[in-house]
Amino acid sequence: MSDTHFGFSTVDDETKAERVRGVFDSVASKYDVMNDLMSLGLHRAWKAYTVAVANARPGDKVLDLAGGTGDLARAFARPVGANGVVVLTDINEAMLRQGRDRLLDEGIILPTALCDAEALPFAAGAFDLVSVAFGLRNMTHKDKALAEMARVLKPGGRALVLEFSKIAAPLAKVYDWYSFNVLPRVGQWVAGDGASYRYLAESIRVHPDQATLKAMMKTAGFGHVDVHNLSAGVVALHVGIKC
Ligand SMILES: C[S@@+](CC[C@H](N)C(=O)[O-])C[C@H]1O[C@@H](n2cnc3c(N)ncnc32)[C@H](O)[C@@H]1O
Repeated sequence: MSDTHFGFSTVDDETKAERVRGVFDSVASKYDVMNDLMSLGLHRAWKAYTVAVANARPGDKVLDLAGGTGDLARAFARPVGANGVVVLTDINEAMLRQGRDRLLDEGIILPTALCDAEALPFAAGAFDLVSVAFGLRNMTHKDKALAEMARVLKPGGRALVLEFSKIAAPLAKVYDWYSFNVLPRVGQWVAGDGASYRYLAESIRVHPDQATLKAMMKTAGFGHVDVHNLSAGVVALHVGIKC
């Protein structure tokens, strides 16, 4: 077994997966409201941008990994239409249940699968698009997850990786102050769990920056990777083409 990061702590692989599960078990019921509060609603714009860049076509097959409460899956459902398919997946039952129930309440029925993005139960070349929003950071073996994304894509298919990234240097101090002082307090106040939101801030700091993730995607099998910085690099969208 090897060591990895859980926020700023070094833990073994199994402990990381357990602790990540604990974080999302704990925040699942308050996840959507916390997302809006923490990002001041910006996560909606980042996701809308991702869906616009993806340019899904009628009939496309889309796989949303670490899909949680289903924002991206829901947004892809309309453009792919009745002849396409969007599969909502996550490793965490509590998060996936929130997503599935929320979509059902809106009259949207999507196939849903509880699965680990590092070992996908789908055939090679099954999808036109694979997306992962704010999920890669939590995965133990990011290289395995990226390789799985490449494997399940058709040649010419695209992977969209939306994730926190490295903010522009002049804003770093104020962003750190917000992340380590405001975020955990809001998490404690709204979700009754400050520690999970401290983990969020720490996990962003140890996640690969834009250039490193781009290189990892190339190694994983994406012949071409574009990087879109959003909100001064608070978030970056990496678009990889399997070619
Ligand atoms: C911050 S949430 C993102 C949810 C959703 N994509 C969004 O953007 O709102 C991160 C999600 O990653 C999931 N996750 C963590 N490790 C995973 C893995 N190895 N495979 C699949 N999902 C994973 C968690 O269960 C959690 O639902």
